[in-house]
Amino acid sequence: MEASSFTLKPWSSCLLLCLLAFLTLLASFAVAETHYHEFVVQATPVKRLCRTHTTITVNGQFPGPTLEVRNGDSLAIKVTNRAKYNVTIHWHGLRQLRNPWADGPEYITQCPIRPGATYTYRFTIQDQEGTLWWHAHSKWLRATVYGALIIYPRLGSPYPFSMPKKEFPLLLGEWWDRNPLDVQRLAAFTGGAPNASDAYTINGQPGDLYRCSKQETVRIPVESGETILLRIINSALNQELFFSIANHRLTVVSADAAYTKPFATRVIMLGPGQTTDVLLTADQPPAHYYAAASAYQTAQNAPFDNTTTTAILEYKSAACSSKKGQSSVPALPLLPAYNDTATATAYTVQIKSPSRVQIPTQIDENLFFIVGLGLINCTVPNSPRCQGPNNTRFAASMNNVSFVFPTTTSLMQAYYNGVPGVFTTDFPPVPPVQFDYTGNVPRGLWTPSRGTKLYKLKYGSSVQIVLQDTSIVTTEDHPMHLHGYHFYVVGSGFGNFNPRTDPAKFNLIDPPLRNTIGTNPGGWVAIRFVADNPGVWLMHCHLDAHLVLGLAMAFLVENGNGPLQSVIPPPADLPQC
Ligand code: C2O
Repeated sequence: MEASSFTLKPWSSCLLLCLLAFLTLLASFAVAETHYHEFVVQATPVKRLCRTHTTITVNGQFPGPTLEVRNGDSLAIKVTNRAKYNVTIHWHGLRQLRNPWADGPEYITQCPIRPGATYTYRFTIQDQEGTLWWHAHSKWLRATVYGALIIYPRLGSPYPFSMPKKEFPLLLGEWWDRNPLDVQRLAAFTGGAPNASDAYTINGQPGDLYRCSKQETVRIPVESGETILLRIINSALNQELFFSIANHRLTVVSADAAYTKPFATRVIMLGPGQTTDVLLTADQPPAHYYAAASAYQTAQNAPFDNTTTTAILEYKSAACSSKKGQSSVPALPLLPAYNDTATATAYTVQIKSPSRVQIPTQIDENLFFIVGLGLINCTVPNSPRCQGPNNTRFAASMNNVSFVFPTTTSLMQAYYNGVPGVFTTDFPPVPPVQFDYTGNVPRGLWTPSRGTKLYKLKYGSSVQIVLQDTSIVTTEDHPMHLHGYHFYVVGSGFGNFNPRTDPAKFNLIDPPLRNTIGTNPGGWVAIRFVADNPGVWLMHCHLDAHLVLGLAMAFLVENGNGPLQSVIPPPADLPQC
């Protein structure tokens, strides 16, 4: 757990004290500070569900350290890889303006940090506040390599709601009772679906409903009558989750580090990658209540983890009486059924920006991306490598292109240094073949092609993307995440998007600003943004099971002509492949 320890010679500690005094003085004038952190990625014994696993962690912590900063602050995070796997770290939801070098996705903006190597991520928080998180962006490492990233407003800058004194981060996760990288490797070999997880977790703990877990269930202490802020993060690898607290209402005030019009709800739903801040008032009889999360599962006929993770909302007065042996079993919240798309959708469409927003209305790039699974036929019958449905291998694609990650360099380095042959810029703006995307799709359209295709955007162009789910293999909610940007979610619906009638229903007044949004299962979602951040930016499904199958593409946003419209030069320690 120890992050670092060091000893100082007397003269240097005096120097340090003077320096500290000077810095404190400076801090009272300056608005921003720089935070230095060391992240050591390392194998750590972690015991869950009765068994100890050699788990990859940051600094021996699971989940990893919480970073707390202010809007305008800078960070320098020195990542040292002491594990035996390649690793990169992504700062999910941070815009990284002109600075793709700090974004982190492996082979997209950087080469992996090799075992034994080091890379320092340097970046500044620019006009963002709220709850974000960081995670590994390499194979399935993010199953255990993740943590919260909390951005407070600048000193003296107010919250748009009355901010409670107390707050509590809740990271929802997924635990496998084996090495998650082996689970992924096996699926990559067989071509079949990866094994579902064995538990969900809250702050790394499965909770009371799992074997050998009760002792360490997370407790959220509250005083009767007080209001606290919960920062909820879906850091699960492959699962949308419902979350609820027995007998309590939650008031949503922020999602994906963008404030929302407050609204009260009994249950929230988050796709992997999404965050939601809620206010909770302890207005119930002093007792213990379960906070719980369980699956929102939209893929049909797919095995999934149907368990429930819990933490305990613990009224302090109740904690005392329980010591006297009067405690009873906490009440469980009523979570929706795993396939309750109606509840999930009704919740998600309530999320709106607090007031009227500036949204691009003249669209320069009108894009239509179909997203979904696919199957690759095998030529060798009964091959161990073709254990998908009917002797196939699972694939996934956007506009029929199954994304292939480069291996010899990253896209950003290839672009910046003019290395040819790494990618092409012919990602199709619309599907190569039009068909009834959510209907009965002819089998001949189930097989994607492979490629490392980017879509070029002019600096400053206004972009609309309709992300349309397909029914190939199964309809599904795909939590789509765009790196380097926030986007407005202007509309969504079920069935096929209708370009003649649906745009009239778009919300161009107060749409929510997000960094990850799910396609409705068998439906679509429309987003808009201005391409004001140059660089190579990955867009992908945040179900890692789909990402490794190719459900991704990348934008190449060109430099603008202005002085602050170009990608900054790469740092000297940027890893090479
Ligand atoms: Cu949170 Cu590309 O990821």
